[in-house]
Amino acid sequence: MAVKNTNWFSEILLKWYATQDRPMPWKGEKNPYRVWLSEIILQQTQVAQGWTYYEKFCAQYPSVFELAAAPEDEVLKLWEGLGYYSRARNLHATAKTIVSEYQGQFPSTYEEILTLKGVGPYTAAAISSFAFDLPRAVVDGNVYRVLSRLFGITEPIDSGAGKKTFATLADQLLDRADPARYNQAIIDFGATQCRPKLPLCDACPFQHQCKAFAEQSVEHYPVKAKKLKKRTRYFNYIVLGPPQQFIIQQRVEKDIWQRLYEFPLIESEGDLLSQEQLIAHPDLDDWLEAGARFQRVSKPFQQQLTHQKIIARFWEFHLSELSKTQKSEQILVDRQQRSKFAFPKIIDWYLQDKSLYLELL
Ligand code: ADE
Repeated sequence: MAVKNTNWFSEILLKWYATQDRPMPWKGEKNPYRVWLSEIILQQTQVAQGWTYYEKFCAQYPSVFELAAAPEDEVLKLWEGLGYYSRARNLHATAKTIVSEYQGQFPSTYEEILTLKGVGPYTAAAISSFAFDLPRAVVDGNVYRVLSRLFGITEPIDSGAGKKTFATLADQLLDRADPARYNQAIIDFGATQCRPKLPLCDACPFQHQCKAFAEQSVEHYPVKAKKLKKRTRYFNYIVLGPPQQFIIQQRVEKDIWQRLYEFPLIESEGDLLSQEQLIAHPDLDDWLEAGARFQRVSKPFQQQLTHQKIIARFWEFHLSELSKTQKSEQILVDRQQRSKFAFPKIIDWYLQDKSLYLELL
């Protein structure tokens, strides 16, 4: 789409932004390490939640050197609760790259920034503009929403052609005199004014220009081609131990929660296992032979991830000589030590909730 004179857009946007008071600790930040940290944390995360994590990371790792030198388990632990743990692993890997290949100096061109692990076009544009004042327009969910509504663009945002259309338009609209301010303004505008649900159209400075508003179809934008199919998975966790100790293991597969800790797991298809199915499962043989006795089972817990729903139940077994049956990749931990390990949320919920047993068998 050709947009000729685009000054009107940034003029209205920046005038709107000047009336806004939405302080955030990373706004106006010029240190690229901190900008990068904030943008990685804010991917898929609400500002209110990201805020405390940003402050924790800045306090614990004031520069890329401290982050690069930290053990990965410590970084994952600090990240616990934010989800999408690949972000934390990439953050750590990139910190090491910046120290080893750039002597700790953050790269300062868009192209170089884009080569960093975990940094895509959005994050590279954000760092380039916020930290280095480079004329790169951010295109995130907020920008897709604002531009699709305002210009009535029905091209799907999850198609290659659609992505190109939006990137080109965003680049044409960018205020090259102050890309940092402009990018922050459009993000905030999408987050607070042109919101996904119940946008504030009555008090919108773009009301007269907005195609979607004129069509009374604001909530139909942006258009997506594919509806996400969500997969449901069933996790039967085996909690082995006398009450003060239990066995855990690290998730190593290329799957959700990589490198977080969990109990020994039996995943089942279609539903959680019944007690008979579980007891008959070959993965339990070694423990049952060693004298494991079934104690009780939790209620089902549920965790919604972006593309998957996890339903988990926790089967507690008493086993007096735990260390004998422990496999090499498994760790025997005391209850009090558990805060040293990063667990998926669903396991934290179970560990914190001792009141919800359905059955005492
Ligand atoms: N989400 C991603 N980046 C952001 C920023 N700089 N300010 C507010 N929300 C954001």
